[in-house]
Amino acid sequence: MATEQTFSIIKPNAMKKNAIGSIIAKFEENGLKIAGAKLTQLSQAQAEEFYAEHKERPFFGELVTFMTSAPVMLMCLSGENAIMRNREIMGATNPAEAADGTIRKLYGDSMGENAVHGSDSPESAKRELGLFFTDSEICNA
Ligand code: CMP
Repeated sequence: MATEQTFSIIKPNAMKKNAIGSIIAKFEENGLKIAGAKLTQLSQAQAEEFYAEHKERPFFGELVTFMTSAPVMLMCLSGENAIMRNREIMGATNPAEAADGTIRKLYGDSMGENAVHGSDSPESAKRELGLFFTDSEICNA
């Protein structure tokens, strides 16, 4: 399988737990590399565009408020089968259903405040990476 790239966000609740290093260690221990990284606070417009597919959902407003409430860490992860591998490392969307040892089990608080985001398909990864990274900000070494 060829090397793949995926997009990851460490969300505000995990940032407040001072868990950047622990979360990145999970990625690295499981064969993913950090190919790009930015620490930033999302604007309302950025969060709304990022989560545009959910704009009709009842939780959309709450999700945007949460995601803009504090800094986040935006990352490009690379590795073999990176999209699916990242989803396994993160665990189920709902932390209550996430397997032991996964990031969401360890650092998630609720469905909304579930510690991390990861792209769910190659198309999403391309779109999401393109929203936040230029080609020159991603290292393919
Ligand atoms: P994420 O992987 O960032 O993608 C969309 C997010 O919407 C998801 O993680 C959850 O944080 C959030 N979400 C999905 N379903 C619900 C829900 N039923 N209630 C609140 N938030 C939700």
